[in-house]
Amino acid sequence: MRVLATYNIKGGVGKTTAAVNLGYLAARDGFRTLLWDLDPQAAATYLFRVRARVKGGGKALIHGTRPLDEAIKGTDFDNLDILPGDFTYRNMDLLLDEAKRPTRRISRLLGPLARDYDVVLLDCPPSVSLVSENVLHAAGTILVPLIPTTLSVRTLDQLTDFVAGFEGPRPEVIAFFSMVDRRKRIHREIAERLPRERDDIASATIPALAIIERMAAEREPVAAFAPRSAAARAYRDLWDEIRKRSPE
Ligand SMILES: Nc1ncnc2c1ncn2[C@@H]1O[C@H](COP(=O)(O)OP(=O)(O)OP(=O)(O)O)[C@@H](O)[C@H]1O
Ligand SMILES: [Mg+2]
Repeated sequence: MRVLATYNIKGGVGKTTAAVNLGYLAARDGFRTLLWDLDPQAAATYLFRVRARVKGGGKALIHGTRPLDEAIKGTDFDNLDILPGDFTYRNMDLLLDEAKRPTRRISRLLGPLARDYDVVLLDCPPSVSLVSENVLHAAGTILVPLIPTTLSVRTLDQLTDFVAGFEGPRPEVIAFFSMVDRRKRIHREIAERLPRERDDIASATIPALAIIERMAAEREPVAAFAPRSAAARAYRDLWDEIRKRSPE
């Protein structure tokens, strides 16, 4: 089972949009895929037309009184399930803090799912928190959307340094440029140059496109409602690259 997480300390950079499209594409490739929407805002859940509710809330899941698989819902797509977001996830840090190994709790909870899923995607809220630390320990690959600016690369280096200090297995960090605006010279320049210079930045990039914003109205991945669009192609290229690089 490959566990991938979209993560960035910054908000609004394209984490959820990537998780939703990559999850869809993984499922299309025949991988039994689960997306866990860890954000109390539950945007990924909304995009898959699933009700953002977990019986017993985050507490039942984190305490282990309700196994994860009981909370999982199907989506409209074959091979793709979702563990919905829930507003109670806003307290997840407190719940995790009560657990025996607070930073490994999510990793432990995912263990039994290896029977049923080939790919698990974790969509993390923007923050540095116990939730995000759990996600970094649970994932084999961290996918980091970056807006092409000089400072965004600094954020990536901070994350890489943090992960390098982990005891035991360390996730691979793969960043990619997100919301690339071709009209901005700085965006073009950074999105072209840095993937050549750095192994940890994917060469596939996601352009800023109005059709991607339409996902909220269509309530589907752009790769599903506009499969031949430039946006869908960009996510396909990104998924192909990640798939090759992420450990099974
Ligand atoms: N490539 C893109 N082009 C245009 N709009 C985009 C693109 N990617 C995402 N968006 C839009 O930007 C907004 C934020 O995207 P998204 O929710 O994926 O970011 P996020 O990092 O998950 O945010 P949060 O930190 O709040 O969870 C959404 O309205 C989304 O439709
Ligand atoms: Mg999000």
